[in-house]
Amino acid sequence: MAFDVHDIREQFPILNQKVHGKPLVYFDNAATAQKPIAVIKAISDYYLNYNANVHRGVHTLSQRATDAMESVREQVRAHLNAAEAAEIIFTRGITDSINAIAYGLSNTVQKGQNVVITAMEHHSNIVPWQMLCERTGAELRHLPMDEHGELILDRLEVVIDQNTAIVAFNHISNTLGTINPVQKIISQAKKVGAWTLVDGAQSGPHTIVDVQSWDVDFFTLSSHKMYGPTGLGILYGKRERLEAIAPYQGGGEMISTVTLEKSTYAGLPHKFEAGTPHVEGIIGFGAALKFINEIGIESISAHEQSLLEYATKQCSGIKGFRVIGNSKNKASVLSFVIDGVHPYDLGVLLDQQGIAVRTGQHCTQPIMDAFCIEGTVRASFAMYNTFEEIDSFISGLKKAVSMLL
Ligand code: ALA
Repeated sequence: MAFDVHDIREQFPILNQKVHGKPLVYFDNAATAQKPIAVIKAISDYYLNYNANVHRGVHTLSQRATDAMESVREQVRAHLNAAEAAEIIFTRGITDSINAIAYGLSNTVQKGQNVVITAMEHHSNIVPWQMLCERTGAELRHLPMDEHGELILDRLEVVIDQNTAIVAFNHISNTLGTINPVQKIISQAKKVGAWTLVDGAQSGPHTIVDVQSWDVDFFTLSSHKMYGPTGLGILYGKRERLEAIAPYQGGGEMISTVTLEKSTYAGLPHKFEAGTPHVEGIIGFGAALKFINEIGIESISAHEQSLLEYATKQCSGIKGFRVIGNSKNKASVLSFVIDGVHPYDLGVLLDQQGIAVRTGQHCTQPIMDAFCIEGTVRASFAMYNTFEEIDSFISGLKKAVSMLL
């Protein structure tokens, strides 16, 4: 399918509205992406025609819902090139996925070992590891970054050592846009026998991921950042790793046998899916994945890269503008400060002109500390954004700056 941004926009009716009397410019895609009609239809079709619980009934609706859900599991397997569908776990989101692994390692990780993250992680990839280290006495280390927002790879062999249990890091920074060298980091981890977890929150909508060629142990995605419903995460784990760790939650569907004294757990993927899953979310995510793949991730990414380059160039002339994160390898996230202006004030003035951006720390307080700033304004681009929208954003930004400086 040829990439036509105007055709694509027609699939997102929400974009066609005014905010404060101005056409909406939605540049908060790193927080959550809008949903195409195909996703909304798939969810309403489920509720209109075959709403039922899954894996629990012999009746027709339950079987239809189960088949629909399991076909999405297979779709995700193919999308990530996982070896088998049982390695795909449906979670409540990336936070849930990372907590599941960090909790699952509680009986494996020991004092004397260390857990490695990076200086540019989202809080969801910091706090669960701090909690694991508090439980086990292990040490939490981080790989530092430089002033461009690039990881200092010379430190890899010092930070990741024989005592490293797991290395957990993001593929793309939600705040800086930095695309991290996944394979290099995984390869160092493998040299010392450490496990790896890659947070794909920001890479899912923009890049193709092949978990087998990366040889990563765990990889996690967020549905709502990929044009799918909220409340759903994907956790990929290699079979032998998932089998080796304890389940995070107990309940229905994750068991094999239960007596009042003791239970045994079901096999994969059910061992990690206690309770009724987010059936509508999973079905909606299947539609989102199909939508993305029909357009093509390479075409989407090329379009977003052009938007990023254009926006960065146009912003550079604005008084006091300073980009935060200018790594060589960067995704479509433009974080910046205007010296002398609070990001929150800029966000409010942009909103009054119909322009939605995120302001603040973006759940990455350590990044703010490293750059000695309170927060940034972040514009993040998706497949449906246009150059005209960037022009509106630039003139809106100039107007806001002239009011504040
Ligand atoms: N992690 C999301 C963001 O970066 C919420 O905005």
